[in-house]
Amino acid sequence: MPNIVITGAQWGDEGKGKIVDLLAARVQVVARYNGGHNAGHTVILGEEKFVLHLIPSGILHPGVLCVMGNGMVIDPWALETEVAELGKRGIEVDDNLVISDRAHLILPHHRLLEQLSEQARGTRKIGTTNRGIGPAYEDKAGRRGLRTCDLLRPAALRAKLEEARRNFELVCRGAGHEPELDWSALARELAAFGERLGPRIQDAAAVLHRTMARGYSVLFEGAQAALLDVDHGTYPFVTSSSATAGGVATGLGVPPTRIDAILGIAKAYTTRVGAGPLPSEIGGSLEDEIRKRGAEYGASTGRPRRCGWFDAVVTRYATRINGFDSIALTKLDVLDPLAEIKVCVGYRHDGRVIEDFPADLAVAEECEPVYESLPGWTRPTTGLRDWTDLPDAAKGYVTRLAEHVGCEIGIVSTSPDRDDTILRRDSAVAAWFA
Ligand code: GDP
Ligand code: IMO
Ligand code: MG
Repeated sequence: MPNIVITGAQWGDEGKGKIVDLLAARVQVVARYNGGHNAGHTVILGEEKFVLHLIPSGILHPGVLCVMGNGMVIDPWALETEVAELGKRGIEVDDNLVISDRAHLILPHHRLLEQLSEQARGTRKIGTTNRGIGPAYEDKAGRRGLRTCDLLRPAALRAKLEEARRNFELVCRGAGHEPELDWSALARELAAFGERLGPRIQDAAAVLHRTMARGYSVLFEGAQAALLDVDHGTYPFVTSSSATAGGVATGLGVPPTRIDAILGIAKAYTTRVGAGPLPSEIGGSLEDEIRKRGAEYGASTGRPRRCGWFDAVVTRYATRINGFDSIALTKLDVLDPLAEIKVCVGYRHDGRVIEDFPADLAVAEECEPVYESLPGWTRPTTGLRDWTDLPDAAKGYVTRLAEHVGCEIGIVSTSPDRDDTILRRDSAVAAWFA
């Protein structure tokens, strides 16, 4: 298999976990390059459901090396909990997990800062996952963050925390809060993490370069998605990391020239958790029905996801900035009962139609979606594994989406199960599998 990036083409929760799991059977390494435990990647293995937050979804495949890249932010408490929970369920996490020595840490003060910031925004709050993600990336960019390599030098921890503490206290006092945090106790806890995690904390880029030199294939697992990317997403209603394919180079130390292919994951409709524009939002009882059929509740926070029609403007934009070679379209089965399915093909704003996703959120919020209406198939597609078994209207729907987006749809997913997946012959994906 070539070295493939898997990344979200909408606002997250497209089914990246399922597709990573599907492809992980054919690679030796799965590496995550961005985000933290804000992600929730669901993998169904037979009767069992696993939701991975920090650890790459490849961990469920014995013999696959999993790498957590420097572009991630790691909450060591959350990491240990995830490792322990997997262990209880018979999934061994041992020397099959490498943590970059350059990844930044999420510490308790980050969660407190996030709460203050969200409260201060009032009605314009982002609706974050409240995991401390944003403030951890702020400390990174502000050059006061702690990295996993710091856990290995316990004597210096207290001093390293000083810069973060100073900024934290300034912000707290500015907001009229007396900062309360026992930094000495924190330094001791971090030193203990260092002892336990020590053997896993390595130069992850060097590990990846060595494995690639041996001819091993790597799957790069993205968290979140293009429209949540800090540069390309619906700013400020985004996460704080580089979720697009470009994040692989900075988030893992793998040069762009080592990326062979990019697979975008898109739902057959659109969802979003948290605040911010969702131009094709459906509303009313039909949105409730789709949410129910698609079980659209956050895998990390349990929040109901907002649901919209497939937005071709969004996925075309994601295709362009990521350079998708192919798209995996998930959850086609969720649309089975609908007699009419809409696709957003443009936005009307100030009397003209925009076909590119706007930078200015005021435009995204004010615009009126332009819809194309397509006939539904009103027949079950759940569990179908062959393109030729799909009803004609379902084939027509998939074909039309690919035309609008300007990228082939090489995979169609028809249930959460790994095997309920259609691999299109003559697609780029089929060539990767060959
Ligand atoms: P991720 O964050 O992109 O990995 O996606 P999530 O795991 O947060 O959300 C996707 C949800 O859809 C999970 O519950 C999956 O089990 C489920 N899922 C994935 N593919 C399909 C599909 O083709 N059909 C249905 N009905 N569910 C799917
Ligand atoms: P996966 O990898 C969907 C959203 C949050 C919020 C915004 C910022 O499972 O697709 P943050 O806590 O990151 O600062 O929140 O981003 N968000 C996600 N939405 N799926 C995710 O991950 C998300 N990770 C963050 O809801 O709107
Ligand atoms: Mg998710």
